[in-house]
Amino acid sequence: MSETLADKNQAYWNHASHFVFKDKWIGDIQYQISEFLTDNIDWIGVRLPTGDNERQTKLMDYACGNGIVSRSLHHLFSKCIGIDLSDGMLDEYRATAAELGLDNSRMSAVQGNLLAPTVTPTTPPLSKEELDGFDLVAICMALHHVEDIALATKRLAERLRPGGVLLIIDWAARDLSDEPEQQASVQITPSSSEDHHNHHHHQHHHHMHDGINPKHPAAHTISHNNFSRDQILSLFEQAGCGESQFVLADRLSPVPGARGGQMQLFWARATKL
Ligand SMILES: C[S@@+](CC[C@H](N)C(=O)[O-])C[C@H]1O[C@@H](n2cnc3c(N)ncnc32)[C@H](O)[C@@H]1O
Repeated sequence: MSETLADKNQAYWNHASHFVFKDKWIGDIQYQISEFLTDNIDWIGVRLPTGDNERQTKLMDYACGNGIVSRSLHHLFSKCIGIDLSDGMLDEYRATAAELGLDNSRMSAVQGNLLAPTVTPTTPPLSKEELDGFDLVAICMALHHVEDIALATKRLAERLRPGGVLLIIDWAARDLSDEPEQQASVQITPSSSEDHHNHHHHQHHHHMHDGINPKHPAAHTISHNNFSRDQILSLFEQAGCGESQFVLADRLSPVPGARGGQMQLFWARATKL
């Protein structure tokens, strides 16, 4: 059987989990993400029970890696469940839990792929009840590793309780045509014929979008370089979520090897209807 993108991700992240978080630029991105999440809890909009309603509240940190979302938001929930393909990453997630002083009942690591065409049981196997009814399901810096993003968002939304929040954090598509100083270092794509009609002179108007360097060791694990606002809002809609919001990061993130050396994060949230 041929190797799936998930197989490639599992093998790569098992290997990379030991060193990836030691890279300064990865640490900087995680810091930027954590800062946004902790500063914008109201914007995320999780509706937590009030008064006598004593139910458990749950966060699913999907494709959790070392658990930056859980680290940032665990104080809002009774329980965080980190799910990842990679055992190496799950060790990092457990290390984060230990550092935060949270035992397995508060923050637990689960191996699995809920986004595959055929979902197989997780390790340890979780019951339907344990895998459902989340107040927040987050997928942070991982949708770009998934082939069928429409199926993925649908599967993640299905894990939410009605009124629960789906949070997607990833790289935004940027139009680089207004950044002439970066043109020398990027591959120029000829503009479409429609574009030419909009110009009254002969200067070519080049639309360039940033992406991961194809020579990066993780390049073979990536399905999408970045996502547009419309693409994300349409994914939310197809997954049965409303009240969606898409926000671009207010500063670019340095990414070695990316076109222009920088990329832009986005944060997007929607409520399960
Ligand atoms: C770039 S890391 C992001 C980790 C973490 N969420 C963060 O923001 O730092 C991508 C993670 O996605 C995981 N992953 C990729 N495809 C997956 C899938 N189909 N199901 C579960 N995890 C997946 C990888 O194992 C890896 O840990």
